Amino acid sequence: MGSDDQGNNDVGRSGFTRRGFIQIMGTGAVSASLAGAAIAARSKPVPPEKVMDAENTVKISLHVNGAQHAVLVESRWTLLYVLREAFGMTGTKEGCSRGECGACTVLIDGIPRYACMTLAVEAEGRRITTLEGLMSGEQLGPVQNAFLEEDAYQCGYCTPGQIMAVEGLLRKNPTPSLDEIRIGVSGNLCRCGAYTHIFRAAQKAADLKKR
Ligand code: FES
Ligand code: FES
Repeated sequence: MGSDDQGNNDVGRSGFTRRGFIQIMGTGAVSASLAGAAIAARSKPVPPEKVMDAENTVKISLHVNGAQHAVLVESRWTLLYVLREAFGMTGTKEGCSRGECGACTVLIDGIPRYACMTLAVEAEGRRITTLEGLMSGEQLGPVQNAFLEEDAYQCGYCTPGQIMAVEGLLRKNPTPSLDEIRIGVSGNLCRCGAYTHIFRAAQKAADLKKR
C-alpha cells in the first residue's frame, strides 16, 4: 500500500499522525487567526470589483511541490499570498509580511527564501517547495519528525519556517556544525525562545536524513 493510501491514522517515526502534527502546528495560528478576524471586522469590506485589478492581471504557472499550478495573479501579489489564498497551502505562515520573521520561509530552487518578499510572478519557472512538500503522502519528512521528537516549538507559529530553513540548510550542508545551524536559522525568529530545541532538532534531522 502506498503512503497516500494509509489514511490519517498513519503514525510517523515520532508516533504522531499527520493530522496530529497539523493540529499542533495550527495551535499557534488560532490566536493569530482570531486577531486577524478582529482586524478584518474593523476594516471596510473590499468591493468585489476591487478584488482583482484587471489591467495588472497575468496568468502564470508555478511549480510547487512537484506539480504545475496555473493561476491568475495580480503582478503585485506575493508568493506567500498565492500559496495561502489561491492554493490553500497554509503550512506557509504569515508573520510580519516584511522580511523580518521568517515564518513564510519556503525553498526556491532548494534555497530558503521569504515568500512574503517574493512576487508570485518572480517565482514562475522556479522550483518551489513548501512545508507540505516535505511529506511523503501521510508520512512526515525527517526534519518534521526531528522537530516533533525534540519538542522544538512552543506556540508553533514560527515552526514551519524554521523547518524549511533547516531543510534548506541540510540540502546544502548535510552535516552542519552547531554554529552553521545557528547561522542557517538566523533568519527565522522564535518569539517563544525555543532556539535550543530548534538547534537540537536540526542536529537530529541531519541524523534522520542519513538513515
Ligand atoms: S512573514 Fe515573511 S519574513 Fe515575516
Ligand atoms: S515556537 Fe512560538 S514563535 Fe517559535
